[in-house]
Amino acid sequence: MNLFELIKTRRSIRRFTEEPVSDELINKIIEAGTWAPSGKNNQPWKFAIIKDKDLKAQVSELTHYAKCVLSAHALIAVFLDNSASYHTIKDAQAIGSCLQNMLLTIHDEGLGAVWLGEILKNGDKVRELINGSADLELMAVIALGYPAGKGGKGSRNKFDQAIFFRK
Ligand SMILES: Cc1cc2nc3c(=O)[nH]c(=O)nc-3n(C[C@H](O)[C@H](O)[C@H](O)COP(=O)(O)O)c2cc1C
Repeated sequence: MNLFELIKTRRSIRRFTEEPVSDELINKIIEAGTWAPSGKNNQPWKFAIIKDKDLKAQVSELTHYAKCVLSAHALIAVFLDNSASYHTIKDAQAIGSCLQNMLLTIHDEGLGAVWLGEILKNGDKVRELINGSADLELMAVIALGYPAGKGGKGSRNKFDQAIFFRK
């Protein structure tokens, strides 16, 4: 798939098969995240990989999306490292870019994933579960695995509605 096609066909996947995902693939996904741009190249991200069943069960209790978390082969929790931060908005933008790199790599590898933001309401509890330092602030959890079925149809507003000025 070319890049544009990859971008357009990526869908959020919330149900996964039991097929395991190799650590090599998980590392590749995270490496793709780390090649995102960041302000001053400060690379303010830190990652936690959660595969342990009991730990996943504990994480699942912290979100409305429990089923998805339990079904996922792995969770990648993405944190902003506040000790590396220099500008809140720009650092959050860098992490968003990192997350999209990861989602596109996941899709390119034939895996599926969803970006979970709702769990941020319990970000500190997620961090405590994995003994993360107080500098770490949860920005998202990616739940991933081999997709059980297709994602949604995918819909976006009409392209023309997105542009409000052109001269
Ligand atoms: C910041 C952010 C937070 C999100 N949080 C959740 C979430 O908590 N649960 C969920 O199922 N999907 C979540 N999503 C996925 C969106 O629902 C999804 O991307 C959107 O509906 C478009 O669908 P698509 O990804 O299939 O194109 C989130 C996406 C983003 C970017």
